[in-house]
Amino acid sequence: MPISRQTIEEVRSRMDILDVVSDFVTLKRAGQQYKALSPFTNEKTPSFFVVPSKGIFKDFSSGKGGDAITFVMEHEGMSYLEAIRYLAKKYGIEIRQEAGDRPDESAQERDSLYIVMNYAKDYFHNLLLHHEEGQAVGLSYFRERGFTDSTIRKFELGYSLDEWHHFSQQALRSGFSQAMLEKAGLIVKREGKDYDRFRGRVIFPVHNLSGKVIAFGARILKQAADRQQPKYINSPETEIYKKGEVLYGLFQARNEIRRQNFCYLVEGYTDVLSLHQAGIENVVASSGTALTEEQIRLIRRFTDNITVLFDGDEAGVRAALRGIDLLLKSDLNVRVVLLPHGEDPDSFARKNSTSVLRQYLSEHAHDFISFKVNLYKDSARNDPLQKAEAIREIVTSIAGIPDPVKRSVYIRETARLLDVPENVLLIELNKLLIQERRRKQQQAAEPQVEPVASVVAGQPLMYADAAAIQQLQERETIRLLLNYAEKLYEDEDGSHNVRDTILQEIEDIEFTHPVCREIIGLYRKAAANNESLNSFYLLDNGSEEVKKLVAELLTNRYSISTHWRDKYHIFITHESEELQDITVRNVLRLKFWLLQQLIEDNLAQWKKSEEEQPGNTSEWEIFIVRHEQYKQAQREIADLLGIVVQR
Ligand code: CTP
Ligand code: MN
Repeated sequence: MPISRQTIEEVRSRMDILDVVSDFVTLKRAGQQYKALSPFTNEKTPSFFVVPSKGIFKDFSSGKGGDAITFVMEHEGMSYLEAIRYLAKKYGIEIRQEAGDRPDESAQERDSLYIVMNYAKDYFHNLLLHHEEGQAVGLSYFRERGFTDSTIRKFELGYSLDEWHHFSQQALRSGFSQAMLEKAGLIVKREGKDYDRFRGRVIFPVHNLSGKVIAFGARILKQAADRQQPKYINSPETEIYKKGEVLYGLFQARNEIRRQNFCYLVEGYTDVLSLHQAGIENVVASSGTALTEEQIRLIRRFTDNITVLFDGDEAGVRAALRGIDLLLKSDLNVRVVLLPHGEDPDSFARKNSTSVLRQYLSEHAHDFISFKVNLYKDSARNDPLQKAEAIREIVTSIAGIPDPVKRSVYIRETARLLDVPENVLLIELNKLLIQERRRKQQQAAEPQVEPVASVVAGQPLMYADAAAIQQLQERETIRLLLNYAEKLYEDEDGSHNVRDTILQEIEDIEFTHPVCREIIGLYRKAAANNESLNSFYLLDNGSEEVKKLVAELLTNRYSISTHWRDKYHIFITHESEELQDITVRNVLRLKFWLLQQLIEDNLAQWKKSEEEQPGNTSEWEIFIVRHEQYKQAQREIADLLGIVVQR
């Protein structure tokens, strides 16, 4: 059922971009704006901006932008209505429904998956706490492992009865369809028979960042451990669950990760639980698999610092060595703690008091390079071959670190620890870096984007893509309108505003970029009705595409102009310059590039006519006259703009 307009209005009026974004991203203040690393890409320097005064965000690395609703949609992969529902819940707004057309199907499907998973979570949790078998088997298992009621509640642990159809029968009776239960991975269909996926196991719900249950892990019990079944059975991937994009415990840990600005990484569900219980709450689990880039990206939304806990046996060390180059590559600051032999974080946390645990963790946290050096040091001491191998190993890890300053610090440290001259390491490092660069260049099958036009003082212009530049100028026109439409300036004819100047000057120009065309159309319509068009109106009522562009153009960012300048050599005057000048120059540039396209079109037509009727010079005159007219007009504009035009 669609949500009523009234509810949507209320959500819109209550939502606060800073507040909404902060639930997912750690923002740093930068003047009037806030910035952070993009939660949408794996970037190294922050290009994600929030402008509270305008209620918008803009992510320059992915191009996404818009209001708080758009943010929730993009970030959580929600539909518009899901996002409204999420925000309504966040702000305690009651959702009223409205009869009418239906929301889109995939959103509906995701919604119902969330609902059925939530139902199952409650079902398992209740069984654990209140059912006879749940208490006798499940609860006593957790108690035996030392988990408290508060941990059980916090992680919403559960139990599934040792029966084939108990869950599905209950769920069907509660109105869920067979098909939906199957889609959610809660029942299994094999050889025409259906049965519950989770039976006779304790249940660990997996939450997404907004706290919704998206999957379950189900652990076998001791008594059943000899039945030759896997220790864990997990939910299959569904519309709402992608294994490689989730970290167990992140929902419960995220505030503490933000607060302490670092994060422990462990392997299993029980490791997370035990550390929480010992008061260490900034911990997430990779759930037994190698960390993916998606998961690293998730961590980097909250911190750059990660400490990986490994079991203190050989397998643990090997796992440590495997996983960590990826972390280093993502520019995380990586530390490693090896636990005492035979311990995992869960057992170690239970055996020791919180203070001993904390002390151990802080005393045994090695930065990864020295960890690796120490590992090789003994074997390398008397064996030159081993030493060479160790050097290569370590330098390979260092070569993966994107930050050159960090690299050189590590090189120096390695030289000291292994007692080799720094030069030797640097040569090895450079070799690797050059190899890597070559590999990347070969990979980049697509040719690098060449500057499409270059204006070097006194040199002729070279064009590659007048159409693209024109679209950029159209954007600039829209940007001026959005930011300064009502601003007045004076000249000898009196007082004008930016909007009227622009609209008059471009009266007979048709924009080519579809979104710009849409927006300019709205301005024209408003002007025809003698109304003013507020940028916020566009943010509230524009199509998604319009909202995105408006948000982008309303967000101040110096690098927009540097980007344009470097890449397209279009100089965007600084806003502190006279508005009149900016406005006039914008219009001139727009016309300049429009003429350039006319010139190129004309030449193309001329060429085509030559090919079709070789030697037919009777048409030439038309083309020549047109060419001269366009060129002349362009030269006049170029004079005004102070650029030199190719003859
Ligand atoms: N895992 C899994 N399937 C398995 C084994 C392990 O998905 N058959 C995942 C689980 O997420 C598990 C993690 O790998 O939490 C770590 O495995 P392990 O250390 O064996 O499990 P623990 O959760 O530590 O369980 P316990 O301490 O009860 O042995
Ligand atoms: Mn374990």
